[in-house]
Amino acid sequence: MKIMVVGSGGREHALVWKLRQSPRVTDIFCAPGNAGISALATCVKISATEIEALADFARQERIDLTVVGPEVPLALGIVDYFEEKGLRVFGPRGNAATLEGSKVFMKDLLEKYHIPSAFYATFTDREEALRYIDRQAAPLVVKTDGLAAGKGVVVAQTLAEARAAVDLFMQEKAFGEAGNRVVVEEFLRGEEASFLAFTDGETVLPLPTSQDHKAIFDGDQGPNTGGMGAYSPAPVVTEALHRQVMETVMLPTVKALAAEGCPYKGVLYAGLMIDQGVIKVLEFNCRFGDPEAQPLLMRLKTDLLEIMEAVVDGRLAEISLEIDPRPTVCVVMAAGGYPGKYENGQAIHGLARAGQHQDVVVFHAGTALQGETVVTNGGRVLGVTAIGDTVQEAITKAYQAAAEISWEGCYYRKDIGRKALDRNQNSVVSSQDSESLMSTTIGRVPPL
Ligand code: AMP
Ligand code: GLY
Repeated sequence: MKIMVVGSGGREHALVWKLRQSPRVTDIFCAPGNAGISALATCVKISATEIEALADFARQERIDLTVVGPEVPLALGIVDYFEEKGLRVFGPRGNAATLEGSKVFMKDLLEKYHIPSAFYATFTDREEALRYIDRQAAPLVVKTDGLAAGKGVVVAQTLAEARAAVDLFMQEKAFGEAGNRVVVEEFLRGEEASFLAFTDGETVLPLPTSQDHKAIFDGDQGPNTGGMGAYSPAPVVTEALHRQVMETVMLPTVKALAAEGCPYKGVLYAGLMIDQGVIKVLEFNCRFGDPEAQPLLMRLKTDLLEIMEAVVDGRLAEISLEIDPRPTVCVVMAAGGYPGKYENGQAIHGLARAGQHQDVVVFHAGTALQGETVVTNGGRVLGVTAIGDTVQEAITKAYQAAAEISWEGCYYRKDIGRKALDRNQNSVVSSQDSESLMSTTIGRVPPL
C-alpha cells in the first residue's frame, strides 16, 4: 500500500516511523516532511494546508491512504475534500474538527451534554468581555475562539493580565480572526494529562495515557510551548479515573458529536485537568498530540495501518490494541529563544552517535537538510524518545542520548518524567500493570 502522511513535525516523524513497520506498506510519502522523515519516506514539497495540491498528488500517485497529522488542514476540511474526490483519508471531517477549531463550539457542546469542564463565558464584544472580567476574581483564563498555534491561551494571574489578553486578542488582533470571539474561563488547579483514543464514531479505543510538559522551564515555569516533552503512561490517571474518563468524557463526546450531525472519526485527544479525583476537560484536539505521539507510538505494538483502516471503514470494534507495558519518555530539544524568537539554520551535531543508543529513537521536528548537513528549522527541533523497564530507566536513556546532540543555542528541560517518578514512588499498584489492562478496553457507544 502507498501511504501519505501530511505534516512536518515530531508527531509526523513518529507516524511515518510506525507506519513503516507495517508489512503491508510499500511506499510512504510525507508532505512536506523534515530531514529525519526523509530517511524513511519520500518528502514532497507541498505544505500541509495546500489541500487541493495534496489531493492532486494523492490521485496522481495512487495513494491508498492519507494520514493527516496537524489540526489546521483538518479544520480547513481536508478530509471532506479528499472524500469528495474519492480518496481514502484518516482524520475527522471539518465539522467534527471544529471541536478543536472553535473553543466556543467545544465549550457549548460540553455544557449541553453535561461533560465536565471549567465554567466559562463567551464574548464577541471587547467592552462586554472587559466588564465581565471586572466582576471576576483572578486567576482567570482567556482564550481565543479559533486556532492560534497553541498561543491563544493566557492564564492570567491578575485581572489586569486578563484585560490585557482580551485587548491582545480582540483589539490588536494578534491572532487575526481567531480572536473575533473569546472565551473567559475559570482557572482550574490540578495535574494535566492527555487522553487519546481512536474512534470510528461508534467504538472508542483508548491509547495509553500520557502527559505533556507545556511550560518552557523546569518545574513547569515560564510561558507555555507546544510541548517540551512527554511520557506514557501517566500515573495520575489511575484505573478508576481511566474508566471515569471513558464514561464521562470520551464516550459522551463522541455520542454528542454524532447527535449534532458531526460524527467523529480519527484520533480524539482530550486535554484533562485532574484534581483530587475530579476530572475536567481543558481542551479537545482532533489529532495526535505532539509530543505525546512519540512516546505513545513507541509503546504501540499493533499495526497502525490496521487500526487506521478500521477507523476509516467503521469497523474499529474488531481491533484491540497491544501495548508494550514498558514506559516511554520523550525529551524535546528546542532552539534557544523558543517559544519566542529563535534562529534557524544551526548545524546539528551528534545525531549519528545518539541514533546508536539502544531503545532510543530520535524523532525530528524542526529540521532540514542543507546539503548533507542536518540543520535546525523550527522552534522544537528533536524529540529524543526512549523506552525502559522503569520510568527512571527511560528517563536516563533519553537524557544520555540527548547529551550526545548539540547545536548553538540548543535547549531542553532537565525534568521530563519527574512527576511520574514522584507518583510511582507513592503508589502501591504499579501504573504500568493497570495501564496495560486498560489500554485494551473497548467502549462501545450506546445507540442514540
Ligand atoms: P488549551 O489549549 O485550552 O488546552 O490551553 C493550553 C494550556 O493552558 C493547558 O494545557 C493548560 O496548561 C492551560 N489552561 C487552559 N485552560 C485552563 C484552565 N481553565 N485552568 C488552568 N489552566 C488552563
Ligand atoms: N502536546 C499538545 C498538543 O499536541 O496540542
